[in-house]
Amino acid sequence: MAAKIIDGKEISAAVKEQVRAEIERDKLSVGLAVVIVGDDPASRVYVNNKKKACELCGIKSYEYALPENTSEEQLLELVDTLNSDKNVNGILVQLPLPGHLNEKKVIERISPEKDVDAFHESNVGRIMIGNYAFLPCTPAGCMELIHSTGVEVAGKECVVIGRSNIVGKPMAMLLLHENGTVTVCHSKTKNLAEVCRRADILIAAVGRANFVTGDMIKEGAVVIDVGINRLDNGKLCGDVKFDEAVEKAGYITPVPGGVGPMTIAMLMKNTVTAWRIQNEKH
Ligand code: GUN
Repeated sequence: MAAKIIDGKEISAAVKEQVRAEIERDKLSVGLAVVIVGDDPASRVYVNNKKKACELCGIKSYEYALPENTSEEQLLELVDTLNSDKNVNGILVQLPLPGHLNEKKVIERISPEKDVDAFHESNVGRIMIGNYAFLPCTPAGCMELIHSTGVEVAGKECVVIGRSNIVGKPMAMLLLHENGTVTVCHSKTKNLAEVCRRADILIAAVGRANFVTGDMIKEGAVVIDVGINRLDNGKLCGDVKFDEAVEKAGYITPVPGGVGPMTIAMLMKNTVTAWRIQNEKH
């Protein structure tokens, strides 16, 4: 039987509506600064989508589009300015940055209280021990999608393919915090297909089009596809070979319309959390 499709658009719309209603109810004045350096077309699309989501939720968005040749000093200066701007509750520097800029240095300069991506070392550390200020947006979005299926994570075999700092590693932590039995696979993993076939919950975050084939999926599994790959013909495609996987999985996310919109919805949620952290100190 073909898998049920997990509708990321619908679920993300519900999260954004919650955020909008909360902001309206409590009459919050929330601001998000988005910084983009250079003109990478994919980054441009993401930043525009973030701006639209802000409008929908009633969050003020401040966009800083800097030229490709911006110096590290200039970028760090802007981060300092935003750190001390009371109207800015969240700061997001769109990655990847042009090669001459040190991403780590820039991220570490963002005030941890405004780090709505949860990329700062202190926020990463808090994720590790389960004492969250902000949930990392993409993994948190994946968790919402898993929860929407009604499948419990506790006791399940969870396999994450990919070990990036942005997705794979924090994803493994969130699954572990919900008592999943978690395996993280990567390019050196032996018998990858066999390991994946054990998964009740499979998260594909490899960044390679159609990497996960039908034979790697356990019958009835929850399959979450984090990949956004652009094919030569311009079409978007996930890390999972959808046509094959849909015949094996119990639940599956499409690309587009799965994880992508969730990331942005969770960013909106984090921005309100940032406002509360900054304004409701005891
Ligand atoms: N580039 C791709 N995904 C992300 C993200 O979630 N946050 C930022 N800042 N940059 C990204």
